[in-house]
Amino acid sequence: MVVRVCMGSSCHLKGSYKVVQRLEELRSTHPEIQIYGSLCFGNCSDGVCVEIDGKLYKNVNAENIKQILVEAKNGSDPLK
Ligand code: FES
Repeated sequence: MVVRVCMGSSCHLKGSYKVVQRLEELRSTHPEIQIYGSLCFGNCSDGVCVEIDGKLYKNVNAENIKQILVEAKNGSDPLK
């Protein structure tokens, strides 16, 4: 699972680093999560933006990233 977190300034101000910290926590038990930084996705007003396996998700935060990962996995819950 390839997760690209926007490292643009707008998303940074909206907490992208907290999303990365939460992803790192989740990766400790789910090593299939690959975390990368990304340049601006062009959706700055809807940040934090995160791309998961090629699909863009908006308004991501440290609280909802786990659920978004689950949804990205088509409803299964591999990240309990
Ligand atoms: S800064 Fe994140 S989408 Fe532009």
